[in-house]
Amino acid sequence: METTIRPESAADAVEIRALLLAAFGGTEEATLVEQLRRRSAAWSLVATQAEVVVGAITFSPVRGRPHRDGLRAVGLAPMAVRPDVQRRGIGSALVRAGIEECRRRGAGLIVVLGHPGYYPRFGFASAAAIGLRCRWSADPNARDTDQADSFMYLEVIAGHARLAGDFVEYAPEFDLF
Ligand SMILES: CC(C)(COP(=O)(O)OP(=O)(O)OC[C@H]1O[C@@H](n2cnc3c(N)ncnc32)[C@H](O)[C@@H]1OP(=O)(O)O)[C@@H](O)C(=O)NCCC(=O)NCCS
Repeated sequence: METTIRPESAADAVEIRALLLAAFGGTEEATLVEQLRRRSAAWSLVATQAEVVVGAITFSPVRGRPHRDGLRAVGLAPMAVRPDVQRRGIGSALVRAGIEECRRRGAGLIVVLGHPGYYPRFGFASAAAIGLRCRWSADPNARDTDQADSFMYLEVIAGHARLAGDFVEYAPEFDLF
């Protein structure tokens, strides 16, 4: 079936909530997306099939520490595809369209906390390898490599990652995690 990727519209909110509940099996991600939509400069794309929402991806601004002027960075989170249509390329189409939209909006850096087996195919690389951490990767007890490498970055503008300092702070809405 043909998949369309487009910006979310107000009418998608109920379907996106149902999608996030089904994909994550809990309410946190759905609550997060609703709070981001209300309070931050966040934006989302949806994937639809026959005008039904089957996937969604959200981006929100992140800050770097120590602060450096000129950083334009966003976090990719959350992203989900409806369980019955996973592994058919919908997630990949959302990530690729999301990266393009970030470029169009002038973002220089994208970070993501996710499966280290998934995001490198889009150009993401281990943030730990360049000394960049976030709250969820900074746990000194988290010594297994998979967890260490689950925080990843992609430079939309070459060289932009150095403006993030050594620590990335997500929007306060992420404090619920
Ligand atoms: C992760 C997710 C968005 C991928 O969407 P998708 O449409 O299935 O992705 P694609 O079809 O483009 O790519 C499929 C590939 O994703 C990878 N993948 C999917 N889920 C994965 C997981 N839990 N762990 C590791 N890799 C995974 C696999 O490599 C798979 O490739 P394969 O079919 O060759 O094995 C979807 O599986 C999902 O909604 N999962 C539940 C919510 C979630 O974990 N979100 C991500 C938070 S970072």
